[in-house]
Amino acid sequence: MVYKQVVRKALFRLHGGDAERVHETTLNTLARLSPLMRFSTADNNPRTVFGVRFPNPVGLAAGLDKDGRALPAWPALGFGFVEVGTVTRHPQPGNPRPRLFRLRDSEAIINRMGFNNAGSQELAAKLDGLRLKVPLGISIGKSKVTPVEEAVDDYRQSLRALYRFGDYFAINVSSPNTPGLRSLQDKTALDELLQELTATATELALGQPRKPILVKIAPDLSDTAIAEVLQVCSDNGIAGIIATNTTLSRDGLAPADQALAPEAGGLSGRPLTERAREVVRFVSKETDGKLPIIGVGGIASAEDALRMFDAGASLLQIYTGFIYEGPGLVRRINQAL
Ligand SMILES: Cc1cc2nc3c(=O)[nH]c(=O)nc-3n(C[C@H](O)[C@H](O)[C@H](O)COP(=O)(O)O)c2cc1C
Repeated sequence: MVYKQVVRKALFRLHGGDAERVHETTLNTLARLSPLMRFSTADNNPRTVFGVRFPNPVGLAAGLDKDGRALPAWPALGFGFVEVGTVTRHPQPGNPRPRLFRLRDSEAIINRMGFNNAGSQELAAKLDGLRLKVPLGISIGKSKVTPVEEAVDDYRQSLRALYRFGDYFAINVSSPNTPGLRSLQDKTALDELLQELTATATELALGQPRKPILVKIAPDLSDTAIAEVLQVCSDNGIAGIIATNTTLSRDGLAPADQALAPEAGGLSGRPLTERAREVVRFVSKETDGKLPIIGVGGIASAEDALRMFDAGASLLQIYTGFIYEGPGLVRRINQAL
């Protein structure tokens, strides 16, 4: 409760409530402290999923530490794995600010960051020589300057630059903030993308089994569209699904937050809890529980986490719940398991 009563209160007031500046200050602080945080409190619920051993199943979702600036801090705070990125082949500034909005009464966030990141080469340089105490996922997306018809090569270059460093790779085709990106979830485009990326991974594996490649999907897909994605994933030997990214829906907002509903971008947090779980349940059912799923979206309590596992997830990720509940949430979930 100290987090909510003291830390969160102070953070939400900092910089006149500018959510992105608070995010930057927090990340800078963690980055500065991280040399002192080269320990892990994560080894409490080990499990092996798609061939990778996770010290516990609660991960940091993509987007919070895109450029891997505070990596040692996450296992120290109890996370059992970390997904960096989404990174793109070309460094890019993202969309104009403001682009991150807190919807406090709804325990939600709307963001249209637009993959602001230092680029895959820069991330590779940062990861070189770093020994993280937990598995590292690397999320890859398309650069804004690259036309969607040339997306395959853009993703491939990032995979090449980063292959050595990841324990798994997440192919992000579901962010709502890069024009055209989600069209890569369509059957033909996704098939081409995954064929090329799995071939590249096989080549980079030099005769070893290739590292797991996962696909992250949007919660706004219909059941039919999800079933098609799953078929393409199965055809291409994809190791798992990450469900879900943020939603374009504005259902479930508290009255006090309605004024922010028209802001463009993806909504995360509480209003997404049920839909994300529904998608996980559907994916699990469609794949007879055989395809590993990372469940993400609106997990804000140990009970949400248990329900996500119950729906078929093997691992979890958290973003917005961490902002509203603090690191205690990771601990509470692991205690409940
Ligand atoms: C500010 C912000 C930035 C995000 N950036 C990314 C990203 O770069 N790549 C990605 O795959 N997901 C990104 N996400 C989505 C999260 O990883 C997650 O899928 C989504 O927020 C749902 O989980 P949550 O309700 O726990 O936040 C972002 C979310 C937020 C709030």
